[in-house]
Amino acid sequence: MNKPLRIAMFGYGFMGKAHSNAYHKVARFFPELKYRPELQVLCARDREKATEFAKTWGYAEVETDWRKVVERDDIDVIDICSPNHTHFEIALAAAKNGKWVLCEKPLAMNVREAEEMAAAVEEAGVPNMVWFNYRRVPAIALARQLVDEKRIGRAFHYRGTYLQDWTIAQDVPQGGAALWRLDAAVAGSGVTGDLLAHSIDTAMWLNGPITSVVADTETFIKERVHQDTGQVQPVSIDDACMFLARFANGSMGTFESTRYARGRKNYNTFEMNGADGSVFFDLEDPQYLDFFEHTKTSGEKVEDHLTGWRRIHVTNFEHPYMDRWWVPGCTIGYEHTFIHALADFLAGVESGQPAQPNFRDALQTQRVCDAVLASAKSRSWVETGVDSAKAAVTS
Ligand SMILES: NC(=O)c1ccc[n+]([C@@H]2O[C@H](COP(=O)([O-])OP(=O)(O)OC[C@H]3O[C@@H](n4cnc5c(N)ncnc54)[C@H](O)[C@@H]3O)[C@@H](O)[C@H]2O)c1
Repeated sequence: MNKPLRIAMFGYGFMGKAHSNAYHKVARFFPELKYRPELQVLCARDREKATEFAKTWGYAEVETDWRKVVERDDIDVIDICSPNHTHFEIALAAAKNGKWVLCEKPLAMNVREAEEMAAAVEEAGVPNMVWFNYRRVPAIALARQLVDEKRIGRAFHYRGTYLQDWTIAQDVPQGGAALWRLDAAVAGSGVTGDLLAHSIDTAMWLNGPITSVVADTETFIKERVHQDTGQVQPVSIDDACMFLARFANGSMGTFESTRYARGRKNYNTFEMNGADGSVFFDLEDPQYLDFFEHTKTSGEKVEDHLTGWRRIHVTNFEHPYMDRWWVPGCTIGYEHTFIHALADFLAGVESGQPAQPNFRDALQTQRVCDAVLASAKSRSWVETGVDSAKAAVTS
């Protein structure tokens, strides 16, 4: 049965495009899903640009007043792809009006907002999800499968990096529609909320709750022209952040993120070392998962002359999500992670077993981000307050 699901999209930028593509494709590659997304309204401030986007992507209408959209009876889903400082108000209003709410990461500007948002969707009883799409990279999902199959064993170390290089020039301005990420009043924080939120979500999905952190941050370029005012103003975001972490399972973590790593474009990597094996992943080479097996699941040690890193080309039908795509050996890419996330979300609504991460899961990531920023300020260890029951490795 095909049930129309009327979507209202907020924002037509990078994520507006990635999500619109997912709505177009999901029913074709996951035909068993009951719901069939229909692109009903594109909501954004600039009517001209929004109209152009709506035409390209097939939205039926354009609206510039978001309050009108969340109150419409002919909308089922509100998808928030606008900058971080807009998430709170839109999500609250959407939940109040009984809409399903999908929200881009980071869920909120801070824990206080995220707590209210999680409570609001739960109180309204509406399906909700935060687009931590990297969980849906087949190679990362395979890493999770190896953890579940106990091939990593007792975890000792988790190492996450998220490196980029696009803000090194002094003359990159801050703020405005295109560079809101450099303005803490709009973004909440710099690399911590933008990049490390991804690393933290992946880490807690694979290795369980992060309980405490100690962090250091730096803002390398202290002043930039603000696009809204034309004035040179202090830069309020963290350009780089490093932190140490303790996980509830006793393992140790290191995390590093910057937008000043010359040559690194989207170097999102992790390595996890356990008693029985290790895994390594790099988003710039996303079709591979590196796996070192020391002990087989039978308990038998791998023969010494056969030990070594195994580079798994994650394109077999048996690999997560890959039976939906092409023949083994043919790769898929970044955009597919959003299609997978959407398919999981819709399947979760149908089955009554909600897909992760929902708002409450994303609240746990927000707790870690806030603790990281607080630690950098106080220059001391900070307890994250992550709810272990909720952040325990969830499916
Ligand atoms: N899951 C991911 O991998 C991923 C990747 C990139 C961005 N994001 C998240 O998605 C959201 C949107 O990011 P993006 O990269 O699509 O941004 P973008 O800059 O490409 O697009 C943002 C959209 O919001 C509009 N906008 C800009 N400033 C605004 C303001 N002050 N008020 C209202 N609207 C405004 C822009 O015109 C545009 O339509 C952010 O929360 C971001 O953190 C997630």
